[in-house]
Amino acid sequence: MPDLFSPFRLKDVTLRNRIVMSPMTMHHSVDGCMSDFHVMLYGSRAVGGFGLLFPEQIAITPDGRTSVHCAGIWDDKQIEGLSRVCRLVKEMGGIPAIQLGHTGRKGSENRPSEGRLQLSPDHAEGWQVRGPSPIPYGGRHSFPVHELTVAEIHELHGAYADAARRAVEAGFEWLELHFAHGYLGASFFSPIANQRTDQYGGSLENRVRFHVEALDAVRATWPERLPLTARLGSDDFNEAGVQFDDAIWAIGRMKQHGLDFADISLGLNTDDMKDRPFDRIGFMVERAARVRQELDIATGVSWNLGIPSVADEVIRKELVDLVFLGRPALSNPHWPIWAARELGHDDPFSMVPKDWTWWLRQHRSQAAADSIGLPPLPNRQNPRI
Ligand SMILES: Cc1cc2nc3c(=O)[nH]c(=O)nc-3n(C[C@H](O)[C@H](O)[C@H](O)COP(=O)(O)O)c2cc1C
Repeated sequence: MPDLFSPFRLKDVTLRNRIVMSPMTMHHSVDGCMSDFHVMLYGSRAVGGFGLLFPEQIAITPDGRTSVHCAGIWDDKQIEGLSRVCRLVKEMGGIPAIQLGHTGRKGSENRPSEGRLQLSPDHAEGWQVRGPSPIPYGGRHSFPVHELTVAEIHELHGAYADAARRAVEAGFEWLELHFAHGYLGASFFSPIANQRTDQYGGSLENRVRFHVEALDAVRATWPERLPLTARLGSDDFNEAGVQFDDAIWAIGRMKQHGLDFADISLGLNTDDMKDRPFDRIGFMVERAARVRQELDIATGVSWNLGIPSVADEVIRKELVDLVFLGRPALSNPHWPIWAARELGHDDPFSMVPKDWTWWLRQHRSQAAADSIGLPPLPNRQNPRI
């Protein structure tokens, strides 16, 4: 029976454990390039024991970013920053993963610290957003949407292929296509955002064509020996939007086109969600488990899984293969080491760089063991001076 700290192998890649740093947009790039900030952020999480590490969503075109401060991979000059991140992550025992994406009708924002508002196309830091149909998301994303032509869709698939080629060059070993959270892939899948009448809209098969063609394009440049995966918006929690049973069908179709692993997330194609799930622990796990069982494909899942016993349980029960952590990875760079200690792992410090291990393992007394910067273990009396 695997647990949170069992290695996980997919294709030619072996992760040291089941803990993933989930992609998180940082708004910290200049001209789409990664810099010292990103090397620090992902390097520290790799030292902290994460097995698979995603930097933020990486945009395949400039208008695929959330804000002008987001990272991208549409130009060869962006390879250098990405490869610095990859090198350090690998040196620290992690596997570097890339999430390729396009924000579609939800792009052209300012930073969260500036209000997370959509900017108009004529704003110095805004642009004309694009999507499957000329339907704005609504609310704070209300500017007109350019309906993509078929030629523009083909160009985007070309951009996916070029991005995958650059990702290999940068040293990534795991690739995820971002088809969730109301971004371009998610909006092609959702009848709320996609009301096209051509081959990319209408029937379920047509609404998955964008994704299948993206997979085919990427597969042409991404090596067969490395995992090709996707994060799918599997439910809009709205009767007019993506229904979970349709998502199961779509993932089956993608599997026929080389999908090796499914990361199950939300559609987020509308704010009008029935029974908003966000306060519940592990609320996407049940759906991910169904995908795993019904399609015989490895799966991962995020959303409120940062309590170590919960993360461990979903692996032990073989509900999913990998646990993706977003906010816990921001708040605790050493989450895996902390969780290992909490869960009674034999040797939590086996995950830190070799030359620290000796120092962190040497405890001649309980007080010394409790004084290394991690909370005292449960069922222990708090020591006093
Ligand atoms: C600051 C921040 C930025 C995020 N950016 C992305 C992103 O670029 N791509 C993505 O797929 N999800 C993104 N997410 C969602 C996370 O990857 C994750 O799925 C979500 O936070 C739920 O996991 P958690 O409960 O462990 O935080 C972001 C989340 C946060 C907190």
